[in-house]
Amino acid sequence: MPDIPAVSRRLLLGGALATGALAAGVGTAHAAPLAQAGAAPAPTRRRRPGQKSMIDVPFDVHKTVRVGVIGLGQRGSGMSEGWSVVPGCTVTAVCDIREDRARRTADRLAANGKPRPAEYGGSDASYAQMLRRDDVDLVYIATPWEFHYRQGKDALLAGKHVIVELPIATELDELWDLVDTSERTRRHLILSENCSYGRNELAMLKMSHEGLFGDVTNGHGGYLHDLRALLFSDTYYTDAWRRLWHTRSTASFYPMHGLAPIAAAMDINRGDRMTVLRATATEPKGLADYRERFIPKSHPSWKETYVNGDLVTCLIDTDRGRVIRAEHDVSSPRPYSRINSLAGSRGIFEDYAGVMATSGGRIYVEPDHSGHAWKPFDTYRKEFDHWLWKKIGDDAADNGGHGGMDYVLQWRTVQLMRAGLVPDIDVYDSAAWCAPIPLSVKSLAAGGRPVEVPDFTRGSWVNLRLGLDSRTSEMPPVA
Ligand SMILES: NC(=O)c1ccc[n+]([C@@H]2O[C@H](COP(=O)([O-])OP(=O)(O)OC[C@H]3O[C@@H](n4cnc5c(N)ncnc54)[C@H](O)[C@@H]3O)[C@@H](O)[C@H]2O)c1
Repeated sequence: MPDIPAVSRRLLLGGALATGALAAGVGTAHAAPLAQAGAAPAPTRRRRPGQKSMIDVPFDVHKTVRVGVIGLGQRGSGMSEGWSVVPGCTVTAVCDIREDRARRTADRLAANGKPRPAEYGGSDASYAQMLRRDDVDLVYIATPWEFHYRQGKDALLAGKHVIVELPIATELDELWDLVDTSERTRRHLILSENCSYGRNELAMLKMSHEGLFGDVTNGHGGYLHDLRALLFSDTYYTDAWRRLWHTRSTASFYPMHGLAPIAAAMDINRGDRMTVLRATATEPKGLADYRERFIPKSHPSWKETYVNGDLVTCLIDTDRGRVIRAEHDVSSPRPYSRINSLAGSRGIFEDYAGVMATSGGRIYVEPDHSGHAWKPFDTYRKEFDHWLWKKIGDDAADNGGHGGMDYVLQWRTVQLMRAGLVPDIDVYDSAAWCAPIPLSVKSLAAGGRPVEVPDFTRGSWVNLRLGLDSRTSEMPPVA
């Protein structure tokens, strides 16, 4: 265990990151820029008249947060209940193209003793009617990926803040347009990146920022989840939307759950930035092989050809010379992992290291450890537990899916809006974390050649600022 207090340790380690992050910790909005002299200019776009940065822009104070939900399938229906139990939050409207799903969610909320939300449904434009309501402050979008950009943009244009399931969009132009629209409408658009609020992920972030790993040099994350049975199920993903993506495109569709926590630990957009990405893909074997063995020949999937590689890997360089490896594989037999590993000049953390997915991780940091032997992570997780988990960990365990991190994300989002604070994850983070989707397409099409990562912050990435490593704050009392 560390034998000196964390803050002193960070001071002792020194270095630009430690110094700047401490400056941010005592309230300096913009610490000294870290851009290195002579670094190549980042590919970016000019801000148009009427647009201003959304960096460090707090939410207006909302006495209560009134949520409108679009998409009430597996994810949206569960998350609707999650929003409804956060103190000071009410679900006022729900929408699904399938009216019966709006009715079902409204019924369930009413049966739980919550106010009955208004229902919208029946067409793929029903959500636009919902957006006209003036009792919706935050729109939560949990539809298939192909609808996120249009629905997110329309919600911003309707004057709402928006939290969008992964990804916020799948094309570079769309990502830029969401950044521009957020800057123009002065409304926040946030990726609903629940894993960034995972307990181990947040402890890893704190350890990184407090210098435990020394100079962080590399990190690995990903989304490795055997979804084959669900992808071929006729009752899980509506109209098999997720399987169909594997017939259309060769890309890293969904690396954000593993990439975002690594990016946060490396201060991406907050002192560093991703500069270049190169992608590799293995052959698409998993889905066809599964179909051959388990799916009857009469099933509609037999008309499909799967083109996306099973394992798509993105290697991403950062301006400060670090390397991120982000992986995506949902079509191979394997136990679940988001990898979640961070390493530097003084040590390494590896999550998902044991036989059980919930093994709790392992660590090796100097000077605490020596002899080339891993140590359990548990004591470090306790010492570096994020204030959010200390405060609401028990409620999260009672209320939230995915080990409680869904509730932590929802509680924190509502708190930020009710207290009028700056979001932990902003539109620039959201765009940067989703950019590997189109960039991997581009790199794979060019035989794995490196492609430049755009700078959505338009140069502001050089400034250190707080994000998920937020300061402790209270949820305003409910009147
Ligand atoms: N963050 C996480 O941990 C997590 C977990 C699961 C899913 N997700 C994400 O949530 C989203 C939804 O996934 P899912 O598993 O719930 O899929 P799903 O198929 O179960 O649900 C999608 C719902 O959207 C509805 N819909 C489709 N088009 C619509 C439109 N134009 N207007 C309104 N409703 C429409 C469908 O009728 C369906 O009810 C995806 O983006 C997925 O990646 C995130």
